[in-house]
Amino acid sequence: MSGEPLLKVQGVETYYGNIRALGGVDVDVHKGEIVSLIGANGAGKSTLMMTICGSPQARSGKIIFDGTDITKMPTHMIARRRIAQSPEGRRIFPRMTVLENLQMGAGLDNLKYFDEDVAKIFELFPRLKERQAQRGGTLSGGEQQMLSIGRALMARPKLLLLDEPSLGLAPLIVKGIFEAIKKLNQEEGLTVFLVEQNAFAALKLSDRAYVMVNGQVTMSGSGRELLADPQVRAAYLEGGRH
Ligand SMILES: Nc1ncnc2c1ncn2[C@@H]1O[C@H](COP(=O)(O)OP(=O)(O)OP(=O)(O)O)[C@@H](O)[C@H]1O
Ligand SMILES: [Mg+2]
Repeated sequence: MSGEPLLKVQGVETYYGNIRALGGVDVDVHKGEIVSLIGANGAGKSTLMMTICGSPQARSGKIIFDGTDITKMPTHMIARRRIAQSPEGRRIFPRMTVLENLQMGAGLDNLKYFDEDVAKIFELFPRLKERQAQRGGTLSGGEQQMLSIGRALMARPKLLLLDEPSLGLAPLIVKGIFEAIKKLNQEEGLTVFLVEQNAFAALKLSDRAYVMVNGQVTMSGSGRELLADPQVRAAYLEGGRH
């Protein structure tokens, strides 16, 4: 892979109090790639996503995004540089309607694109269009996930961070969501960094992937390589759908 990566995470350590959750993580994401991060519960995957967004901040190491050091930037400044996150657990606004949730995702400087962007998201997730006046909290799990991704897309991100988009969803819904991610990547060139428990689906979708164990990256390679790797298969794919 040539050129500077869009996102470069270098030797990042993140602590919760005295507890070290990330122990020197290196990850690169290049423009136009889908990169996934897999690993067991508690490995530190969400912590890495949140550290990229500046909360919690890295205690040491560097995070470079689009040529700028964002390691010590406050979260809202990082968001302004067009990193958008669909966090674990979706975190949509339950009392607001679908449309209002999407409004919350649009930055002030994107308001002129609002109608155009909403139309695009409704095309990607027609279910949201049908339910645009419904309150977020009454949507199904799959619909909430679509809304969470849609809200992140309203920020017109250069980098989309997705934390466990498939969690708790039926296989057919997962398939639809992964197809939508692929479409955004192929048609819009959107760069995606994805955390997944569903290692099989994630590796199939991704150009490259990283495996995290106890706050450290232990393996990396192309999605295809990792899918075929006996250690990865034993740890993350056995018993899964493959
Ligand atoms: N706010 C917090 N305060 C203290 N410890 C935390 C906090 N958030 C996470 N941790 C700890 O940091 C470690 C990494 O957690 P993290 O949520 O990043 O893991 P994960 O890989 O995303 O796991 P999962 O697959 O279950 O979502 C865990 O040991 C967790 O208990
Ligand atoms: Mg997590």
